[in-house]
This record gives sequence, structure tokens and C-alpha cells, in this order.
Amino acid sequence: MLKIGNATLKHGIMLAPMAGATDYAFRKVCKGFGAEYLVSEMVCAKALCYEQKIKKSITASPSKTAPLAAIREGELPMAVQIFGSEPQFMAEAARMISENSYRGATSVHTPTAIDINMGCPVAKVVSNGEGSALLKNPKLAAEIVRAVRGAVDIPVTVKIRIGWDKNSINAVEMAKYLEDAGASLICVHGRTREQQYAPSADWSHIANVKRAVSVPVIGNGDIFEPRDASKMLRETGCDGVMIGRGALGNPWIFENTINLFEGREERKIPQNEVIDVALSHLKLMIETKGERAGIAESRKHLGWYMKGIRGAAELRNRINCAESLPEIEEILLSLKE
Ligand SMILES: Cc1cc2nc3c(=O)[nH]c(=O)nc-3n(C[C@H](O)[C@H](O)[C@H](O)COP(=O)(O)O)c2cc1C
Repeated sequence: MLKIGNATLKHGIMLAPMAGATDYAFRKVCKGFGAEYLVSEMVCAKALCYEQKIKKSITASPSKTAPLAAIREGELPMAVQIFGSEPQFMAEAARMISENSYRGATSVHTPTAIDINMGCPVAKVVSNGEGSALLKNPKLAAEIVRAVRGAVDIPVTVKIRIGWDKNSINAVEMAKYLEDAGASLICVHGRTREQQYAPSADWSHIANVKRAVSVPVIGNGDIFEPRDASKMLRETGCDGVMIGRGALGNPWIFENTINLFEGREERKIPQNEVIDVALSHLKLMIETKGERAGIAESRKHLGWYMKGIRGAAELRNRINCAESLPEIEEILLSLKE
């Protein structure tokens, strides 16, 4: 059992935040298959703050950042993740998110927690001292957690990598600073910033962090099958697991991980069910983003769903050329057995 604020998770199986992938539609699909905890895509704290300065008027363009922070009906427990390097912007963004008071806010719930991104490796993020760049500055990282803690009444959690590069692995030091600053939970992705997403994650640092702090530690990195999740729990002693790429095109990983944890057989997913879920995921994306953006953004998901299906490459090409829901629907339904 894992407690985060007012939420209790039976197994601690979470969907990892993935910008450009874990939008409402995908979160809903994963939740439907058992993901116990969701995290939003990362929200730029400074952008959210700056967008408040735009005068409310008919001509003001809609907020681009606000939709990323929205929590819809049925999504709790869920954290909204923010990134940034300036404590005052981080605190202000967190306060607005927790109160649902920013321009364009549509959340129907207060988030379970505010999560702080200290792992993003993307150049344009780290060049501003944000994301994983904070691993090089544990004191500033702690200052950010302190400021955010002071601004909200909900738990503040942090997602880190194990260090900047192989010569500066400092996950344990970071975690102690963050705990001391008031972090309620720390998620550790077992890679350095330099490694980006390969080679494989080194879980031993997750175990080291778990031994070093008393707040819950979530392990992350390279869970592609249910047995990877139980192996991670066993090898690191972590309190829960976060699954990212392993859920893309395979939201059933949550169901089957729970099956494994509860001593049930793995459920083989029939091709027809894959098609049905892909189609309803696509429809949900269109419903929430409009046909144009919904179709454009769903192409990668459809590609992931098609991965195990015969002739996947050809199918992906056909889907990429299709421009309307009926066209894609026809392609998908033709795969039904
Ligand atoms: C496309 C993509 C987008 C990501 N976006 C975020 C993000 O917004 N915030 C974050 O903390 N991590 C982000 N990550 C990192 C994942 O949350 C996770 O730490 C990483 O993928 C390792 O876990 P996995 O091996 O289960 O995928 C992203 C990863 C991917 C592949």
C-alpha cells in the first residue's frame, strides 16, 4: 500500500509522464487498464505564469499551457508535473495549479500532488537550467522544493535521474536534499542525463536512494513487461513503479502487472481488442483535440498499437496517409479477425 496525500495505491503502479504522449486520452486508456496513478505531461511553470499577464479579452489567444495542467473527471489520483528553475515561478505555478486559478483552467479536481521535473534531458530545457540540469545544482533543486512546498497544501513530489553523467552520479545526495526540503515522494529514473534513454537503466541507484531516504521511492526505467516490475520491486525495495515507454501501444501492461502481483495468469490480448482500444483511443483524441490535431497526434499511438500485428509497417504507412476518422477506422476494422 502506498499513500500519497489523500490517495492510497494498492500496488503503486503508475503511468510515467511523457510529454506528447500522456495526454488525457492516453491517461484514460491506461487508467482503464489499471494504472493506479497518473501524472500530467510536463507544464512549463514560467509559461503558465507569463500567460496570466495577457489581458483577458475576446482577442486574447487561448492559453497553450493551461490544457496540459487540466485534470478531468475520473483522473484522480493524479499529479500535475511542472518544470522550471526559478523558485518563485515554480511556486506561483504550483499555487495556481493547486487552486485551479490560472487563465484557461478547466480542472474539475485539485491534483493529488505537484510533481517537479528534475529529469528532462532535452537540450532546450537543460540549457535554461531546468529539468535534469537541476541535478547539477542540488541546493537550487532543494530551494525549488521548499518554495513549492510553501505555496501549496498538497504533497510535492520530485522525479529525478541518477545524475548528470557517469562521473557525477548523485541520486542519493539529491534525494536527501529533496527529502530535507519537504519532498513527499521521489521517483528515480535509473539513468543519467547523458544517457538519455539508452543503454539500460541501472536500478542499483534506485536501491541506494531507497536506503537513504524515508519518503516513498518510486522506481522507473525499462519496465517493458510485468515481470520487470516485480523484479524492480524485489531488487531495489522501492515502494512503487512508474511505467513509461512500456505502456505505449500496450496499456494492458498495467492489467497484467496487477495480474502478476495478485497471482493471476497473464491475459493474452486478442488482436480484436487491440483494434478496439486503438480506435476508441483515436476517437477520444479527436473528441478532446478536434479532428485535425487528434488525427495528427494519434498517428504515433496507432503505430505503437500496430507493432505486434502482421504487416505493421505497411499499416503504419496507410494510417499516415489517411486524413479522416472514417478512413482510419476502415483500415483498423479491416484488421479484425
Ligand atoms: C516521449 C517521452 C516523453 C517524456 N516526457 C517526460 C515528461 O514530460 N516528464 C518527465 O518527468 N519524464 C518524461 N519522460 C521520461 C519518462 O517519464 C520516463 O522517466 C522514461 O521514459 C523512463 O521510463 P521507461 O523506461 O518506463 O520509459 C518522457 C519520456 C518519453 C519517452
